[in-house]
Amino acid sequence: MAEETGNGAIDTSAAEAFEKFLVPTIFGPWSELMVDHAGTKEGDRLLDVGCGSGAAARYAAQIVGKQGSVSAIDFNAGMIAYAKSKDANAEIDWHQGDVTDMPYEDNTFDVIVGNQLLQFLPEKEDGLAEMKRVLSQDGHLTLNVYCASHRNPAHAAVGKALENRNIDAKGVLHPFSYNDPVVLGDLLQKIGFHDVSVVRKQMDSYFSSAENFIDCLAVGGPSSRHALEQLDAEGLKSLKAEATETLAEFVDAEKGLRVITASNMAFARI
Ligand SMILES: C[S@@+](CC[C@H](N)C(=O)[O-])C[C@H]1O[C@@H](n2cnc3c(N)ncnc32)[C@H](O)[C@@H]1O
Repeated sequence: MAEETGNGAIDTSAAEAFEKFLVPTIFGPWSELMVDHAGTKEGDRLLDVGCGSGAAARYAAQIVGKQGSVSAIDFNAGMIAYAKSKDANAEIDWHQGDVTDMPYEDNTFDVIVGNQLLQFLPEKEDGLAEMKRVLSQDGHLTLNVYCASHRNPAHAAVGKALENRNIDAKGVLHPFSYNDPVVLGDLLQKIGFHDVSVVRKQMDSYFSSAENFIDCLAVGGPSSRHALEQLDAEGLKSLKAEATETLAEFVDAEKGLRVITASNMAFARI
């Protein structure tokens, strides 16, 4: 199954660039916040859905310890191959596959976490029903799904600059499209989850400049790199100049560009 953006293919070098440029800055901190929000504890059997290069799975493995277990699934072969290469002690059970049709038995996991996955699923109900199936009777689910682009101003500026050049900005803006906390909570209840809560959280990350942020998206962004590669060298230069101007108010003289990300974090029990 392809992502809704229509550009799901990520090879191992792209996964490595994602891990190098966007995991330490954005996806890693969000993954850790999610695993903590889930109340993950020693001995838990945890599944990371849409694990990417494995930031949440690796962090969770330190918490659940030898008494627990961590499994992780992503449909992208490059992401899974790269994640495996980082797991020298084979602590995590990695699987390449689709979250709407998972290979796990019913009632297998105490905790499921998924950072920035749900918005990419064309069949969200199927994916959530499958998560419910593999959760144990007292299991719970924590999902992070970005808020709207106006709450994520650096990404919004890049998307707007692409649109100003008549370039399809979906790769940059689609991750922010499933952004209504009420819709998200209602969907979880419709699938049969209980004790549903959705809270909005915000985080700051710093890049040396707007240019550097765009360079990181262009080499490491799972979907944004496909949007940015539509530009030639001149186009990229002028897009960077526009974004630099738009984002001037977020530049700190010492820390660089403040990239604000805001995400809805949903928690639900079986
Ligand atoms: C934005 S990345 C986030 C990766 C990781 N959770 C993180 O925070 O670093 C979204 C991931 O979801 C995966 N994905 C999208 N649709 C999927 C599906 N149907 N089944 C499994 N993985 C999927 C993509 O391959 C990609 O690695």
